Amino acid sequence: MSCSMLALKLTLAVSCPQSHTFLPGVRFWSICLAPGFISIDCGSPPSAGYVDVVTWLPYVPDAQFVDAGVSHNISAEHAGMIDLKLPRLYNDLRSFPTGARNCYTVRSLTPGTKYLVRATFLHGNYDGLGPGGLAVFDLHLGVNFWQTANVSSVSDTFQAEIIAVVPDDYVQVCLVGKKGLGTPFISGLELRPLPDTLYPVVANASLSMAVHGRYNLGPDDEKPIVRYPSPHDRVWKVLANLRSWNPANTTGTVRYVAGDQFEVPSAVMQTAATVDDGFSLRFYWGAYESNKELDYFAVLHMAELRRLNGSEARICEVYLNNGLWYSKPFSPEFRYSSSMFGMVAGSTEYSFRIEPTANSTLPPLLNALEIYVMVPTAERATHGGDVSAIMAIKAKYEIKRNWMGDPCGPKIYLWDGVGCNYAISSAPRITSLNLSSNGLAGEITTLLSNLTALQNLDLSHNSLTGNIPEFLAQLPSLAVLDLTGNKFNGSVPESLLKRSQEGALSLRIEANISSINNDQPQRKKPTKISAVNLAVAAVVLSVLVVVVVTLTLCLRRRRTENDLSVRPLNGSKSKEDNGDAVSLQFDTRQFSYKELKTITNSFEKSIGKGGFGVVYLGYLEDGTPVAVKMRSESSSQGVNEFLAEALHLIRVHHRNLVNLVGHCKDGQHSALVYEYMSEGTLQEKLREKSPNSVPLTWRQRLRISLDSAQGLEYLHKACTPPLIHRDVKAANILLNGSNLEAKIADFGLSKAFNNDLQSHVSTRVVGTPGYLDPEYYTSFQLSEKSDVYSFGIVLLEVVTGQPPILPESVHIVQWARQRLAKGDIESVVDDNMGRYDLNSVWKVADLAPRCTEQAASQRPAMADVVVQLKESLELEEGCERVHGSYAGSGDGYGENSDTASQSTQSGRVLDLVSGPAAR
Ligand SMILES: *[C@@H]1O[C@H](CO)[C@@H](O)[C@H](O)[C@H]1NC(C)=O
Ligand SMILES: *[C@@H]1O[C@H](CO)[C@@H](O)[C@H](O)[C@H]1NC(C)=O
Ligand SMILES: *[C@@H]1O[C@H](CO)[C@@H](O)[C@H](O)[C@H]1NC(C)=O
Ligand SMILES: *[C@@H]1O[C@H](CO)[C@@H](O)[C@H](O)[C@H]1NC(C)=O
Ligand SMILES: *[C@@H]1O[C@H](CO)[C@@H](O)[C@H](O)[C@H]1NC(C)=O
Ligand SMILES: *[C@@H]1O[C@H](CO)[C@@H](O)[C@H](O)[C@H]1NC(C)=O
Ligand SMILES: *[C@@H]1O[C@H](CO)[C@@H](O)[C@H](O)[C@H]1NC(C)=O
Repeated sequence: MSCSMLALKLTLAVSCPQSHTFLPGVRFWSICLAPGFISIDCGSPPSAGYVDVVTWLPYVPDAQFVDAGVSHNISAEHAGMIDLKLPRLYNDLRSFPTGARNCYTVRSLTPGTKYLVRATFLHGNYDGLGPGGLAVFDLHLGVNFWQTANVSSVSDTFQAEIIAVVPDDYVQVCLVGKKGLGTPFISGLELRPLPDTLYPVVANASLSMAVHGRYNLGPDDEKPIVRYPSPHDRVWKVLANLRSWNPANTTGTVRYVAGDQFEVPSAVMQTAATVDDGFSLRFYWGAYESNKELDYFAVLHMAELRRLNGSEARICEVYLNNGLWYSKPFSPEFRYSSSMFGMVAGSTEYSFRIEPTANSTLPPLLNALEIYVMVPTAERATHGGDVSAIMAIKAKYEIKRNWMGDPCGPKIYLWDGVGCNYAISSAPRITSLNLSSNGLAGEITTLLSNLTALQNLDLSHNSLTGNIPEFLAQLPSLAVLDLTGNKFNGSVPESLLKRSQEGALSLRIEANISSINNDQPQRKKPTKISAVNLAVAAVVLSVLVVVVVTLTLCLRRRRTENDLSVRPLNGSKSKEDNGDAVSLQFDTRQFSYKELKTITNSFEKSIGKGGFGVVYLGYLEDGTPVAVKMRSESSSQGVNEFLAEALHLIRVHHRNLVNLVGHCKDGQHSALVYEYMSEGTLQEKLREKSPNSVPLTWRQRLRISLDSAQGLEYLHKACTPPLIHRDVKAANILLNGSNLEAKIADFGLSKAFNNDLQSHVSTRVVGTPGYLDPEYYTSFQLSEKSDVYSFGIVLLEVVTGQPPILPESVHIVQWARQRLAKGDIESVVDDNMGRYDLNSVWKVADLAPRCTEQAASQRPAMADVVVQLKESLELEEGCERVHGSYAGSGDGYGENSDTASQSTQSGRVLDLVSGPAAR
């Protein structure tokens, strides 16, 4: 009774500082645990934690920290050998037979805190393989190599400790197997927060130090390892069996002054090693065989253990490799800790000697010793926000794969489906995420919005449901979004479509099993695209839309207020009741004939003429110039083709495609109104020979070619089925502004390829002589490659300045090929072009003939053409660009791989040599 009263009193006497965990009286005292003081028993049953009866610390199972590996108990024979002195965590372990890197992640830490991290191992014949099951593997703290664990005994424990500042609110400890060197495993993992004042040499995350040896000198062999509850739960091993060191001890407490950098426990300082009178105290350790470059950090702790009388003196000097290490003669203080410490480096062997000075009456003494290996942390961890987001995404969709450790680093352990951008000066960012065919279900998680550097997101072929969220449009760098093959319903946010139309985002959304939004009937509001035709709107041709639009354009005689075309494009567009819905798609302005007459000032200025009719310059109410293309009565282009053009223009929006402002269908008058391209056509620019016209430079020609190639690529690739222009020519490439931005015009002949409407496609050959794909001409087989052919002709025009059909009816392809085959580029290049980079011109002169190969299959795709033109432009601009953001990743990784190769370092610890040496 009185005993339990006492226990209660003691328990109550403890009051924990705020934020510490209070653990009520296990045994006779209570425990306060600082935040981040975490003890994990690896491989223990996931049910519940326990308080260990050796350390009196609470342990938790490891299930919440790791999602790979296999739990094992050590064999019965070894379990029997674990006496009460060994913590229970050694009874079981977790092994990792698969995966290159397996990691524990401990979360909810305070960023910037210094920790002692300890991993412990006991093989205990868990696998029944005996010594055959022993393993050598690497430990990583986060992205950086920590040390090699060489578990070379079945029955001995092995420990690895590191002191590091953890920059984030989580820390990862990874086990990395080595080929042919056994299966990695771990018994326990412990985190001990350290105050900033301790080990100040570890000031920030850029330097950590791994324990090479931490020793308590002088106790008898029976004395157990000193650890908790001594400060910070460091493990102080007994350095025993010293041949000629003499033990010394005291029962009095050895203290340290406030602000001490090491806070060595009194239990450790109370014992010391000395030598016989007149001798020096010596010890040494050898540098790791495999890496002699590593820096070490040594700390010698001393305290006088007995009160000296007036005639006694203990004065010593400390030498390292024959040089004086500590500059002054030194006398340890009575029962107060003093520490000598410093970095030691550049040697293969570190030989310390503590010598008494001439006026010292007593031999030197040493109470404790710490040796650390400096661990460079060259590898940078992934941006913290990205990590927490991707971890949460992993948890949300229960993704396993190899998603362990840091997502981006080191590069060889990059997570499957994750792509990163490695910059020299900042943390790697996650730039792409491919979760295609991963069985994802549920809605698109908003956690994706936290991956703010994301450029490429592939969620295709999963079972995602719900709405396509608006926030995707807010991801600032998102350039590719693939949502193909899911089960979305609802609608595609307007903002997303808008980015897609601007050419800033490639959006793929086909093959979504979705349902028509019933409360948004199609016929009532054709402007509003409900879920089902979003796929279409974003990209392309759906029969439904064609029908809807065609109906609207052709059959409705009377417009209603709901008609698709009444609102001006520039007018403020009131948000629809369904904020997410698309209302922009068919939202081009409809002009009456009268309006056209007004804006063109009664068709005053003609700026061109096509097969379709005359094109007039006009000005909208706000002064914006427009090109008004009237369909003449005698036009060879029928109303259907006119509508086809309108339809294509409505559907495709790209920086390099001429934009449709509106249209007119008023009685027998029909017209299309485009943005006005002030600089005319490429054809005019190439062949205009008026005295004050300035010929295009090679760089301008390249830019124009690249712009138009990108426009065509968009037609071919961004649309499903692909759109084929069918009349690519220099006259259909329009230029705008002083920088001559190029846009592809005239979709009058464009036809969606490979669709249900194909039966309506006339087989009459269309196009312009000189640009016609010979294969199409003979077979009527139309493909994107027909546009590539025509574009190849444009490229030849750009290089040579010649028309597609030269005088004497020679075709430009034939003409150029003959000359180029002789390596004679100068006779081909346009004389007016001025200076140019020869390699750059050669690149295009080489590309153009490939585009104009007779067989369509041998021509490159527009995407390749774009790449080639970009390279050519880079040559011309003389900038041999290192691929931007990837520059420097090699460096970072190189350093790390160096470090990794150091990992063969043996587990050779301190070789202590003792013994008297003549003074
Ligand atoms: C290990 O032993 C404990 C109790 O002895 C048992 O509950 C547990 O299931 C064992 N674990 C494995 C992986 O065999
Ligand atoms: C880390 O600490 C070292 C030593 O105090 C200092 O020189 C270095 O600038 C620090 N680095 C950062 C990133 O704070
Ligand atoms: C202290 O020293 C005495 C005599 O040298 C020895 O008997 C005793 O075991 C030592 N105590 C410890 C804790 O080492
Ligand atoms: C001091 O102590 C030493 C040994 O313990 C002893 O030989 C010496 O006589 C003492 N001197 C004085 C002045 O007490
Ligand atoms: C002991 O000798 C050293 C030089 O070896 C000298 O610096 C120191 O002052 C001397 N100390 C005493 C107490 O005489
Ligand atoms: C996502 O970002 C928000 C706002 O920045 C933040 O509050 C939240 O904690 C982040 N979530 C994750 C899982 O990182
Ligand atoms: C592991 O340690 C053993 C015994 O110390 C040694 O023989 C072996 O070479 C070491 N293995 C590696 C890979 O360092």
